[in-house]
Amino acid sequence: MILITGSNGMVGSYFKEEFQDEELLLTDIDTLDIRNYGKVFSTISNLKPKFVINLAAETDVDKCETEIDHAFHTNVIGTSNVALACQANDIIMVHISTAGVFDGEKHDSYTEFDAPNPQNIYGKTKFEADKVVMQTLKRYYIFRPGWMIGGKEKDKKFVAKIIKLIQKGQTNLNVVNDKFGSPTYAKELVRGIKEIIKTGYFGLYHMTNKGTCSRYEVAQEIVNFLKKDVKITPISSAAYPLPALRVRSEAMRNYKLDLLGLNNMSNWQDALHDYLSSWIGSC
Ligand SMILES: NC(=O)c1ccc[n+]([C@@H]2O[C@H](COP(=O)([O-])OP(=O)(O)OC[C@H]3O[C@@H](n4cnc5c(N)ncnc54)[C@H](OP(=O)(O)O)[C@@H]3O)[C@@H](O)[C@H]2O)c1
Repeated sequence: MILITGSNGMVGSYFKEEFQDEELLLTDIDTLDIRNYGKVFSTISNLKPKFVINLAAETDVDKCETEIDHAFHTNVIGTSNVALACQANDIIMVHISTAGVFDGEKHDSYTEFDAPNPQNIYGKTKFEADKVVMQTLKRYYIFRPGWMIGGKEKDKKFVAKIIKLIQKGQTNLNVVNDKFGSPTYAKELVRGIKEIIKTGYFGLYHMTNKGTCSRYEVAQEIVNFLKKDVKITPISSAAYPLPALRVRSEAMRNYKLDLLGLNNMSNWQDALHDYLSSWIGSC
């Protein structure tokens, strides 16, 4: 049996489909709040799952910036609670990190061998959580996705925001062209996690779709897919100040998976089309 925390979000929405042959215990904040050490410890100790996959996190980057205690409590203490319970029961933990741990100054894609240097609270909490997992456990997997795409009605991120604006009838959109990243289709991420956790090759892996792009390019690709007459105008992020700093580049490559011959992620445009077909295509 595999226990999953935070399963009611974007990534969690693909587990039933991708882990059909496994018995899953899908929990969320109402059934297993990872901030509650007693509950986390007793649940893991009683069930003794084969893996605990920790998806639970506060992922709203701007909320993390304004509710700092909440961000550290959820993302660091919560992760620590899960890691300690896994340690006490000798259970393999699977944890999800983020491209947001890097400072964005690198002009090439970040690999697993680049040092994190987070620039906002979300990134700091996620980096602290990575360290907690690495220091607490010998047997762990940490997967680092980039810009998450997926989740359909649970999608709270960039792709859903653009689609909603277009569906509302907007025909002119201003989108920043000075922030870069590596889109990561949650469905492929979950499929990749399933493959890697079978190997026993513990450690940290970047797992994004192939290629990097700007937000502007993602929006343009969405418009092309929808075949809508929508004009996307590239603008500077200076025009859109937000509570949390967005670094220049969150571009990553799956260097370790490449070296191991295990990188099965598609390129970002194919992944985005697959997602849009599965969602908009079915509406
Ligand atoms: N989404 C992204 O852009 C992105 C990018 C890179 C990495 N990641 C990482 O990927 C992992 C999965 O995130 P996601 O994309 O699926 O985000 P998501 O859609 O926000 O899902 C996170 C889930 O965690 C739940 N949660 C929050 N606090 C919790 C708590 N204390 N106890 C238990 N559950 C709690 C949330 O419930 P509520 O909705 O009720 O709060 C939500 O269902 C996270 O580690 C995240 O940091 C995400």
